[in-house]
Amino acid sequence: MGVEIHGAHDYLIDQYLKDQVNDRTDQYGGSLENRCRFALEIVEAVVNEIGADRVRIKLSPFTDYKDSGNSNPSALGLYMAESLNKYDIAYCHMVEPRMKTPLQKVECLDSLVPRMKAFRGTFIVTGGYDREDGNKVVDEGRADLVAYGRMFIANPNLPRRFELDAPLNKYSREAFYTSDSVVG
Ligand SMILES: Cc1cc2nc3c(=O)[nH]c(=O)nc-3n(C[C@H](O)[C@H](O)[C@H](O)COP(=O)(O)O)c2cc1C
Repeated sequence: MGVEIHGAHDYLIDQYLKDQVNDRTDQYGGSLENRCRFALEIVEAVVNEIGADRVRIKLSPFTDYKDSGNSNPSALGLYMAESLNKYDIAYCHMVEPRMKTPLQKVECLDSLVPRMKAFRGTFIVTGGYDREDGNKVVDEGRADLVAYGRMFIANPNLPRRFELDAPLNKYSREAFYTSDSVVG
């Protein structure tokens, strides 16, 4: 049991982190340190409430979904990874730089490795992985774990299918947001 704090994909915390949308002039805006203050204060508050081993955070320093972008995403991701070490949380979950939006993969040379090296706990990557490249990124020590989104929707027993190397159902975009629990 635990809480994954949503610090990604243009939601409130992400809007504080990103210099293209954070136009505050107080101690929560301007410098990198100031923009990260809100996220880190939330982490600290939740850690104090439920214990560090139950706290996780998801971040997407490289995305610019709904204009929530940053002029130096590498530095932002690095600063957050380093700052989070202080709290000894359960894991840090980061979205791959190639995911320009949550669902659109754009090939890019940037990687999360420097952020992973800076973070001393469990580091999870996500964004456009299949079984093969998910295994590869873990085998090569570029991540501790891989999170899956779309494939999980179409394959609720995805870990078992991966284990058996069984065929997968193809996901259907139209079914992503349906209330029909069988189709969706
Ligand atoms: C239907 C659907 C809804 C999603 N909703 C959210 C969301 O509310 N917040 C978020 O940060 N990411 C959301 N995502 C993104 C996923 O958490 C994940 O980061 C993304 O799908 C990349 O992983 P994948 O390539 O394995 O699908 C959503 C994805 C899908 C398919």
